[in-house]
Amino acid sequence: MTEDLFREIELLREFGFTHLDIGGLRAADRGQGDLLAELEEIVTACEKCRLSKSRTQVVYGVGNPNADLMFIGEAPGRDEDIQGEPFVGRAGQLLTDIIKAMKLTRDDVYIANVIKCRPPDNRNPELDELESCRPYIRRQVEIIQPRVIVTLGRFALQSLTEKSYAISSVRGQWLEYNGIKVMPTYHPAYLLRTPSAKKEVWADMKKVMTELER
Ligand code: URA
Repeated sequence: MTEDLFREIELLREFGFTHLDIGGLRAADRGQGDLLAELEEIVTACEKCRLSKSRTQVVYGVGNPNADLMFIGEAPGRDEDIQGEPFVGRAGQLLTDIIKAMKLTRDDVYIANVIKCRPPDNRNPELDELESCRPYIRRQVEIIQPRVIVTLGRFALQSLTEKSYAISSVRGQWLEYNGIKVMPTYHPAYLLRTPSAKKEVWADMKKVMTELER
């Protein structure tokens, strides 16, 4: 068995699978789109935490499975819970505008959250919920292998990296996650409350564009 296959079995066990169809697990034979679709089936059936009880649907992620650029947010809100797609509400419109300003479309990039189910009343995610969901975003990153990740807000950065970075001190500075460049920036919902911070986010996105042009 290849190392890839061992790794995939290990991940599936982590996701709660006990009976594995080894014949169907040859990662090397499948593209990113297939691997993302297989993971989506697992995530859609997830009941690892209490958020599965209150969700309308799982909000898995959208975009280009081969994207160079991945945006990672916090958790679905009301609109996302209804539509099943990340960043489609007011904050999502602002993210879409940011992506357009970078001369890209939502189909060029990949967009996902560290939490896949809406926390009731949009409360902050709890530690055990972040822990339960972390393998999913990490696996999405592993499959897509983007060149750059933009984390939106504190929870996205802290949960992906499992480090207690303060967003105010690391925003706009390149970090690294598993060999991938990470640009931490403010969450679009914060920008809706604090429009004056938009210029800082734009400065961060210019660094991202320069990196992607290299
Ligand atoms: N905020 C997020 O962090 N993610 C979404 O999908 C929507 C709003």
